[in-house]
Amino acid sequence: MTTSPAPAPAARPARARVAVIGGGRSCEHDVSLASAASVADALDPATYDVVRLTIARDGSWSTDDGARLDLAGAVTVLARCDVVLPVVHGPHGEDGELAALCEQAGVPYVGSAVGPGAVAMDKWVTKLVAEAVGIATAPGRLVTAASASALTWTGPVVVKPVAAGSSLGVSLVDSPEGLATALADALALDDRVLVEEVVRGREVDVAVLRRADGSVVASPALEIVVDGFFDHAAKYGGGADFQVPAALDEVDAKALEAAALAAYDALGCDGVARLDFFLTDAGLVLNEVNTVPGMTEHSQVPRMFAAAGLPYAALLDELIRAALPAPTTSA
Ligand SMILES: Nc1ncnc2c1ncn2[C@@H]1O[C@H](COP(=O)(O)OP(=O)(O)O)[C@@H](O)[C@H]1O
Ligand SMILES: [Mg+2]
Repeated sequence: MTTSPAPAPAARPARARVAVIGGGRSCEHDVSLASAASVADALDPATYDVVRLTIARDGSWSTDDGARLDLAGAVTVLARCDVVLPVVHGPHGEDGELAALCEQAGVPYVGSAVGPGAVAMDKWVTKLVAEAVGIATAPGRLVTAASASALTWTGPVVVKPVAAGSSLGVSLVDSPEGLATALADALALDDRVLVEEVVRGREVDVAVLRRADGSVVASPALEIVVDGFFDHAAKYGGGADFQVPAALDEVDAKALEAAALAAYDALGCDGVARLDFFLTDAGLVLNEVNTVPGMTEHSQVPRMFAAAGLPYAALLDELIRAALPAPTTSA
């Protein structure tokens, strides 16, 4: 600890008008509504005026008084805000689409820009980027409706959409008879499907945050303790436990942190991202990167940062202040 005088507290914005967007057109609509509501409720009213916007499953926008907005109306509302906090998981949100809309509207936004959002949403391209910087991923191949019938049984596999989330359309296939149904389930959510080797290991996630001062920090790791497969029912039905921080030896903890920071950096992420790994006997395997992770107070990312001494409202504050333009100082 230093004995020099404490630095002046970081300049807080005067009141800021924050648009929180939830919902969206993807299969993660409901998960996003929960995240967005929790975020909006947690923003400190002493600092933030919150504008709640919802995107319906059909893509139409509304404000919290239920008024429908066409796209031009939505852009007008966004452009009147100081910053946008998009909490829309999955395609048509997390994939860069809302970042693009904010760019077009000329309003600052929290989180990754268009490119990293799109790349991280695509589990196939994420593999290519991760492997290129020396981070292992599960060996897998890409299958489309046209090539699915040519797939032959080589052993147990995980079948999943290239771009989805919340474990929807993800199946563990342990017998040849299950393959066709698994492919059909995944192809119902995406044109492209990954057929991956089954990774055996502990499931451990790390969050990475770019703070308001520009520094990038990794959270303590979280272990998902689940009996079997971390499917949609286990994720949202209470069938999984989170252990935060994960019980890891120092070597594994350091390797996870380094891999998470390297992947965040290689993808060009911003804001907060959650990087999901398997810890196997042969080392770390990156499963996926979420650039708009679940953000209810009880979701993984808030719990990981809370374990490091950064409470939920302070985490949101960091994200918003990082996105806002630097305050101009007057003499
Ligand atoms: N190759 C794999 N080997 C073993 N388990 C896997 C594999 N891929 C996915 N899983 C399991 O399925 C879950 C959901 O898959 P994931 O790729 O994370 O999809 P989502 O984007 O829907 O969360 C993971 O949390 C993990 O438990
Ligand atoms: Mg996942």
